[in-house]
Amino acid sequence: MSKLDKRSWAEPFKIKMVELLKMTTEEQREKAIKEAGYNTFLLKSEDVYIDLLTDSGTSAMSDRQWSGMMMGDEAYAGSRNFYNLDAAMKKYYGYKYLIPTHQGRGAENILSQVMIKKGDIVPGNMYFTTTRLHQELAGGTFVDVIIDEAHDSENPHPFKGNIDLNKLEAVIKKYGANKIPYVCVAVTVNLAGGQPVSMANLKEVRKLTQKHDIKIMLDMTRIAENAYFIQQREKGYARKSIAAIVKEICSNTDGATFSGKKDALVNIGGFLVLNDKDAYEEASNLVVVYEGLHTYGGMAGRDMEAMAIGIEESVQDEHMKARVGQVLYLGEMMKKAEIPIVQPTGGHGVFIDAKKFLPHLKQDQFPAQVLAAELYADAGIRTMERGIVSAGRNAKTGDHYFPKLELVRLTIPRRVYTQAHMDVIAESVERVYERRTKIKGLKMIYEPKYLRFFQARFSKL
Ligand code: F0G
Repeated sequence: MSKLDKRSWAEPFKIKMVELLKMTTEEQREKAIKEAGYNTFLLKSEDVYIDLLTDSGTSAMSDRQWSGMMMGDEAYAGSRNFYNLDAAMKKYYGYKYLIPTHQGRGAENILSQVMIKKGDIVPGNMYFTTTRLHQELAGGTFVDVIIDEAHDSENPHPFKGNIDLNKLEAVIKKYGANKIPYVCVAVTVNLAGGQPVSMANLKEVRKLTQKHDIKIMLDMTRIAENAYFIQQREKGYARKSIAAIVKEICSNTDGATFSGKKDALVNIGGFLVLNDKDAYEEASNLVVVYEGLHTYGGMAGRDMEAMAIGIEESVQDEHMKARVGQVLYLGEMMKKAEIPIVQPTGGHGVFIDAKKFLPHLKQDQFPAQVLAAELYADAGIRTMERGIVSAGRNAKTGDHYFPKLELVRLTIPRRVYTQAHMDVIAESVERVYERRTKIKGLKMIYEPKYLRFFQARFSKL
């Protein structure tokens, strides 16, 4: 190949406005993380250089989205923007009924209350924190039916989000189909490391659940990223567009909860979508109690407009290639430096295996929590613990859950950082890796009752 044959590619956008960042010294960062109780959620954002806490609500909106914000119709009822969002939802996702909510967990609350009765069982492909909590608060019990490979950070399975059909069948047999209001399928699976579900697996799950008259409810928060992996990895999908694959995923389910703060490139918003009219009517009654009228559900008109436009932008092939491409670039650099990361690299971030990074620490010394704190202290990079702290406690026994995966998530916001930022991140992780044997564990000195990872405080052992 001659030099002239090489064709690099870059992002399908140019930058029109920038946000300046504050640079800090190591001493300032040591002080800030100590004051934050070694919890990156409690840091002030202005003390952060590169913020990889989450890809949720942190995307850069396009000029089209910003101009959509100016078209907000802030009427209490029947806002024009609601109808635009409804049209985008129907065009790209194809569900019958839309109920906007303030964000994803608002939709999870309503879905759980409408569908789950006390004593019900909700099988799903690995838990997500807010999703499982709403299922539990509605009286249900979550049962994990993801394939075993998902719990092994080194396993290179291309669809680690898949559901194990034998596990699902065993749950149906054990509890009976009438105890299972729906199977909760997440695309992609956040806590497994942003791992996708294959179309073939979803269709198998559909076949099995239809046999037992059980519904499938999707957590479609990162559906376009899942569709990208299907396009890249699954036989028969290489020539299909992301948009077509997204719609095909939705067509194999009965409804979905959606956090618009991820795929849909907005800073706030979400929705519940359903195909069943009765369930929709009940959900419409509840949304008025918890969120707002059924034509805004906690969102301003302008937010609904930005989300309608963001949905369309999110399913463009060139957008998704750049979005996931940037995450894979960071993953490749980590692999070259032999940092233990979840493989394959996921759609929304790179996940470091903290048990392997800090093998001298026990899980209840919070290895992922302390690693996140160390990464902040090194270069001002803010990441998130996704391990024992996030997993919480078993409500019945009061014991910690001890998840197999003890991870630090480096989540990449969409359209926000450059390749040079990715280089700085990889260098910082390498520096901390070099001095890993000197890193000590933490003890928890304050523990909130719910979703403790947000506000827990720690001190050094
Ligand atoms: N489902 C998944 C898979 C998520 O990742 C999230 C949020 C939600 C539901 C809830 O949506 O935040 O709009 O209420 N995940 C964020 C994260 C918080 O950082 O991963 P929400």
